[in-house]
Amino acid sequence: MTLADRTLARFSVLVGPAPDLVVRAPGRVNLIGEHTDYNDGFVLPAAIGLQSIVAVRRRPDGIVRMVATDFGDAVSEFDVAQAIARDADQPWSDYIRGVMTILQAEGVELGGFDMLVAGDIPQGSGLSSSASLSVASGMALGGLFAPDRFDATQIALIAQRAECDFVGMRCGNMDQLASALGAADHALLIDCRSLAVQPVMLPPGVAVLIVHSGISRGLVDGHYNERRAQCEAVARQLGAAALRDVTEDQLAAVRADLDPVAHRRARHVVTENARTLAAAAAMAAGDLVKLGELMAASHASMRDDFEITLPAIDDLVAELQTAIGLHGGARMTGGGFGGAVVALVEADAVGAVARHVEARYRTPDGNKPLIMVERAHAGAAFL
Ligand code: GLA
Repeated sequence: MTLADRTLARFSVLVGPAPDLVVRAPGRVNLIGEHTDYNDGFVLPAAIGLQSIVAVRRRPDGIVRMVATDFGDAVSEFDVAQAIARDADQPWSDYIRGVMTILQAEGVELGGFDMLVAGDIPQGSGLSSSASLSVASGMALGGLFAPDRFDATQIALIAQRAECDFVGMRCGNMDQLASALGAADHALLIDCRSLAVQPVMLPPGVAVLIVHSGISRGLVDGHYNERRAQCEAVARQLGAAALRDVTEDQLAAVRADLDPVAHRRARHVVTENARTLAAAAAMAAGDLVKLGELMAASHASMRDDFEITLPAIDDLVAELQTAIGLHGGARMTGGGFGGAVVALVEADAVGAVARHVEARYRTPDGNKPLIMVERAHAGAAFL
């Protein structure tokens, strides 16, 4: 049974009548371009097969009743006539509550509904479980209460605002755009300022390997928001709208005037933007060697300049790099401080690479890591 089938079966048990709408929204893996999105820069993510599913049905009585099958059918409920507040007991519902507040701010008149949510993206893995839930609920509630009003990009931006303004994680727009706009067999080169999206085909014969370190990201919103503030401060100091507008030479020229930590943070973003554009070109050219070099440099920059990796993640990446050799590469993916590592590997080397990592890496609780062989999937859709 697929996740969607299981969700529908559960919906009929918990709610009864069939849902009005069912939406799936994928998680994403970022191939390169980390912490560049909120600096108006470039990212290269791909939507993956792991996903969130949301099923909704209107209610006549103004009650909003949300059920999470992944949390033992936990319920979060309120009357839509009330002001929407966070639910400290059921924090998963805050992503949906956040989407509701943004839809209301956009003038959408919401009514009551039953909603069932389910997903298979490991939380805290850096694979965007929260963005996929926000995008799925945005599409579902938009579809229910404002049909045909928002396109996929607008839904992604509503989901992002929900996370920033309501949940309090000052994220960029990469995760939501990747989930909403993903394309099968393609990564997306996204200009996070103009929102131009260019699909780049994954070279045939190349597998996307995701290895979960088993270190859950945990309470990182603080670190994340701090990094973002540091980047914005450097941009202000340089009189730039965003670090996107700063070149490596410009940054080098003002190095003596900058706090050393601030300088390193900015250097990561400025060099990562350049690496992301170069990686999209290398991918289009099928140049796996160049891609591997860029991924290695990206990881080193996250480790040394942005300081968002952990020693165990550095070790995992190094093991992958050893096993992969020159044809492909590996780096941590996502916001950092734990989560997953992504690798691009020639398809016929996948087995050997996986065996190497299983023999050498252990999660904090002593287990072999979860290894997923992925490909790029289409973005969010009504089922
Ligand atoms: C998280 C955020 C994204 C992005 C990445 C880092 O996933 O939600 O907006 O900033 O971290 O690249």
